Amino acid sequence: MKFFVDTADVAEIRDLAATGLLDGVTTNPSLIMKAGRPFRDVVAEICDIVPGPVSAEVVALDAAGMVAEGRSLGAIAANVVIKLPLTLDGLKACKALTGEGFKTNVTLCFSAVQALLAAKAGATFISPFIGRLDDIGLDGMALIREIRTIYDNYPALETEILAASIRTSNHVKEAALAGADVATVPPAVLKGLVAHPLTDKGIQAFMADWAKTGQTIL
Ligand code: G3P
Repeated sequence: MKFFVDTADVAEIRDLAATGLLDGVTTNPSLIMKAGRPFRDVVAEICDIVPGPVSAEVVALDAAGMVAEGRSLGAIAANVVIKLPLTLDGLKACKALTGEGFKTNVTLCFSAVQALLAAKAGATFISPFIGRLDDIGLDGMALIREIRTIYDNYPALETEILAASIRTSNHVKEAALAGADVATVPPAVLKGLVAHPLTDKGIQAFMADWAKTGQTIL
């Protein structure tokens, strides 16, 4: 499973890139607002740090506007992925931009049929939002499983499932078990994946015993 980080915070991205765990980055207009910096500068900086796919989202609501914004964002760097909303206009823009050789991420997916449409429009990635479905009492992970089954039924569909709106370590585990190709994870959740109380306890015990040997390694 590939790990993307879901943030526009360049310092966090730099820190996580050093772990070697980072395969890509996703941003959205809310994350850009939080970063409080010019969109294009942030995208360019992220693309310099992470060689993998970096999603940058359009804000036009009509297909022609999305295509124009997509081309402009795509010109920032070769690894920009144009993020488009799951609407009919978004699908039209997806087909057009895919035809021009751009990579696309169709976002705000909340149903399996929406995911099927995005794949037919040639999306590179589909972003089903797990946490937001859980928030309204539905089963976000069931959506990942349904999309996996549908895409596997039709091997000609090459769209990768990018599990988004991930809130917990358990979401990451369940998405991996369900066969998502990618998980985009907030920085705190990504860092939290490494934590286990028995790891900490084990280190403490080893350090205590090592101190008793009176030895040094170097
Ligand atoms: O970037 C898309 C998605 O991951 C947003 O997540 O937590 O705002 O529902 P969230």
